Amino acid sequence: MSTLKAVKYTRGKLLVLDQLRLPHEFHYDDVTNRTEAFESIASMRTRGAPAIAIVASLGLAVELFNGSLTTTSADEAIAQIDEALDYLKESRPTAVDLTNAINQLKARIRAVGSGASKDEIVTAFIEEAEKIFEKDLQTNLSIGDFGAEWLRALGASESQQISVLTHCNTGSLATSGHGTALGIIRTLQAKGLLQHAFCTETRPYNQGSRLTAFELVYEGIPSTLITDSMAASLFRNRKQEKNIAAVIVGADRVVRNGDTANKIGTYQLAVLAKHHGIKFIVAAPTTSIDLETETGDGIKIEERKKEELTQITGAVVKPDGTVDETSKVRVAIADQRVGVWNPAFDVTPAEYIDTVVTEKGAVEKGPDGKFDFSKIMPERW
Ligand code: MRU
Repeated sequence: MSTLKAVKYTRGKLLVLDQLRLPHEFHYDDVTNRTEAFESIASMRTRGAPAIAIVASLGLAVELFNGSLTTTSADEAIAQIDEALDYLKESRPTAVDLTNAINQLKARIRAVGSGASKDEIVTAFIEEAEKIFEKDLQTNLSIGDFGAEWLRALGASESQQISVLTHCNTGSLATSGHGTALGIIRTLQAKGLLQHAFCTETRPYNQGSRLTAFELVYEGIPSTLITDSMAASLFRNRKQEKNIAAVIVGADRVVRNGDTANKIGTYQLAVLAKHHGIKFIVAAPTTSIDLETETGDGIKIEERKKEELTQITGAVVKPDGTVDETSKVRVAIADQRVGVWNPAFDVTPAEYIDTVVTEKGAVEKGPDGKFDFSKIMPERW
């Protein structure tokens, strides 16, 4: 079985899986420049905080590799690259990984030094973008290990396997591989600690049913799909594999006090988990941490178009129960004239979060009830 990959990259060539067509069709878009990268992200053909940063960085790297700069001056090259990065930053506002990647890329091209040539600036940019891509996989594997060990310390074992619930999609499709929250679930499974994984449908965009359910089945992880509205009933039901030990979610932005923006519906799961005595885990690389913003009130929440609620894309189910993978049907599921509110994310206050698992370890709250990221990120604190 080959590994699922949202992004395939070799220098000068970027292929990005069109996630709007999943789970019925596997199609990679050739992304050759900033505009195509922007479109891929804004339309959610690619999505998930780390994948957004990777596609923006590599999309511009491919454009630069193919010689898009219209100058031979290094200073002018830096100005043109800055302009492209500032444009890409507007593709989706909530996930901070993109901003952090942009800051890293801007710093790298400035570090090349005065007197450098335009080509040296371009090469430095490409190498840094490739580093962001390559490092992400290692980051996710570490998050998987730290998360699984945190749960082992709570009592998970080969003889006492645990069941968990996840929300949205945080797996290979949202990253360069393995995933963050779904990465912890993969690692739990690999270590023999997982009994069962539940995933929510994640309305309105259905990242859970279209993407996470697909990844869980693809990996052979024992799993069950529920609608978002079934979580409370699941948490009350303590029988067999429904005895949920933890909710594990990803993050688009964790701010200084630990408040966390993630896919809409995360907050209600956190409140329900606390009520039922279930642990609530945020899995986030340090690239998803924003130390410039003090609390969740400072996070800009993206609002998306009404059609994501009033219409859905499906594929035709044939009389024998199998899916016609070539068919694609856009179907109205509400009165098209109704008013709609469609925030793509919500903010879970830190008080509902038990740990933020990063690639540098699992961070817990201090006696003041606040997360302290200074130990794992002293350089940015
Ligand atoms: O709107 P999306 O699909 O980009 O939202 C994705 C999420 O909310 C994920 O949980 C988050 O980006 C983390 S992905 C590792």
